[in-house]
Amino acid sequence: MPSYPVLLASGDGIGPEVLEEGLKVLNAVERRYGYEFQYENGVVGGAAIDQYGIALQDETLEAAARSRAVLFGAVGGPKWDDPQASIRPEQAILGLRKGLGLFANIRPVRVNPLLLGDSAIKREVLEGVDMIVVRELTGGIYFGKPQKRWVNSRGRQAVDTMRYSEREIERILRTGFELARGRRHKLTSVDKANVLDTSRLWREIAVELSEEYPDVELEHVLVDACSMHLITHPDTFDVIVTGNMFGDILTDEASVLAGSMGMLPSASLGRRRRNGTGIGMYEPIHGSAPDIAGKGIANPIAMILSVALMLRHSLALEEAAVAVEQAVDDVLSEGYRTVDIQAGDGRIVDTARMGTLVAEHVLA
Ligand code: IPM
Ligand code: MN
Repeated sequence: MPSYPVLLASGDGIGPEVLEEGLKVLNAVERRYGYEFQYENGVVGGAAIDQYGIALQDETLEAAARSRAVLFGAVGGPKWDDPQASIRPEQAILGLRKGLGLFANIRPVRVNPLLLGDSAIKREVLEGVDMIVVRELTGGIYFGKPQKRWVNSRGRQAVDTMRYSEREIERILRTGFELARGRRHKLTSVDKANVLDTSRLWREIAVELSEEYPDVELEHVLVDACSMHLITHPDTFDVIVTGNMFGDILTDEASVLAGSMGMLPSASLGRRRRNGTGIGMYEPIHGSAPDIAGKGIANPIAMILSVALMLRHSLALEEAAVAVEQAVDDVLSEGYRTVDIQAGDGRIVDTARMGTLVAEHVLA
């Protein structure tokens, strides 16, 4: 029986609640296809700060590196939110991304036709929205040095550094070009080349690489304009490729298109083997949502769709991935909704029931 080691890092807030539903769905995949997933648990984020004094232990990173994939819930919460603190829950996520070399963050944004009425955006604008945002994940202003605070005679000072090397830019742009090739052949490179040198280098390399991808139409859009186009004509995007911070901001914005952050999965990928697979970390794009934690109302679909991405991108189990995605669509078309996607007259279910319904459809 094929067996796959997976590290579970459930984290804080609603992280453990939604991850549990992801596991229900994986159990259904095991039963239907005869695979076996071997789980190891890693304590991360605020939970790890409480238990060990740091957000990510070396042992956890090592366990992640030994596994085929990491399923990550969410981290953070008011308890650990002191802006002065040098130890922060987010260090777990950043440490795993950097430590595992997961430089490419893939965030697909699809608007399910059944949920057109749930978005704050008009139906006509949303029809046909189907894009993938490729966000660079281990460079840029998130990791550039120096990053520090200090005090001098003029008061408190702080610096963050946006830095990109040619190598970092090239590999993420290639990820974008390759993905566009398998889709509608359009790549939008987003930068701030009218102000930033990192962006001018980014644009230059994009133009150079485009010679190797003559079948892909490359366009450059400034990040401020892009944030507007995402709302005015989101259907014109196919693949967007951008740097770490721009991608962070634009994907929260793009999630509004899908009706709820509770719908959007993500995959963070490093170098691929020749068959296209490799280690990855899979997580919903939403955070730990401390305001609704423990209430059983969180939408587990983003986590469940992240499980599907894991099956596809790290385990090469495409058939199972499609079955999970289809199961989600089926449950939604039967009218089941969590509260965040409740526009219209859907049948409201809680987190656990939504997970069970999807798992049942995987088996059906
Ligand atoms: C995300 C999150 C993280 C990020 C935080 C939690 C560090 O917002 O995955 O989008 O900024 O990358
Ligand atoms: Mn974010």
